[in-house]
Amino acid sequence: MRRKQPSAVAGLPSSSVFLVGFMGAGKSSVGRALGERLNWVFEDLDDRIEAREGRTVAEIFRDSGESEFRRAEHAALQQIFQELRGGVSMIVALGGGTFAQGATHKAIQDSGVPTVFLDAPLPELWQRCAQQLEAKRPLMTSQTRFRETHKARLPYYETASWRIDTAGKKVDVIAAEIAAKLKLKEIALRTEEGEVE
Ligand code: S3P
Repeated sequence: MRRKQPSAVAGLPSSSVFLVGFMGAGKSSVGRALGERLNWVFEDLDDRIEAREGRTVAEIFRDSGESEFRRAEHAALQQIFQELRGGVSMIVALGGGTFAQGATHKAIQDSGVPTVFLDAPLPELWQRCAQQLEAKRPLMTSQTRFRETHKARLPYYETASWRIDTAGKKVDVIAAEIAAKLKLKEIALRTEEGEVE
């Protein structure tokens, strides 16, 4: 699979970013920090799914299975695309599997919104997930499954527009690195000044 450089296609503004990566990559905490830094809306796709479905992610997996979760995930993302077309500047933390679902991956790539892959070594990802006991992850059943799922998804993650190595780094440092790499401060200032993109 090829890395796709972002472009302003599909009528979506470039002042938005999708954070992708495996469970424990820090998508939500980095996304929140980046949103605060830029004064942009932060959205967690899992939260959006839960609000739309009226059930937690764990309940959807338990009662309806993964395929129903993926349908709900794709539908929630379509709703976010709709809002982006309305001109909202948004940082969106995707779920660990979102960018690795064929149709959803294509929809994200076709949107032209820049994607940032938050990368970290597998043992560190496992460690971080193990420490976040409050985040119930239905797919975190064993280290073997964790490793195999990560291996299967890596080719998708590697098609992201940007890759950030997060190993051993603090959330604010990662957020600052993303902002600098994608020149988001400049974009935020331009947007605040009302310039047309
Ligand atoms: C999933 C990761 C979770 C959540 C769901 C499925 C996955 O999100 O979307 O449990 O397939 O890896 P996080 O990456 O935020 O844990």
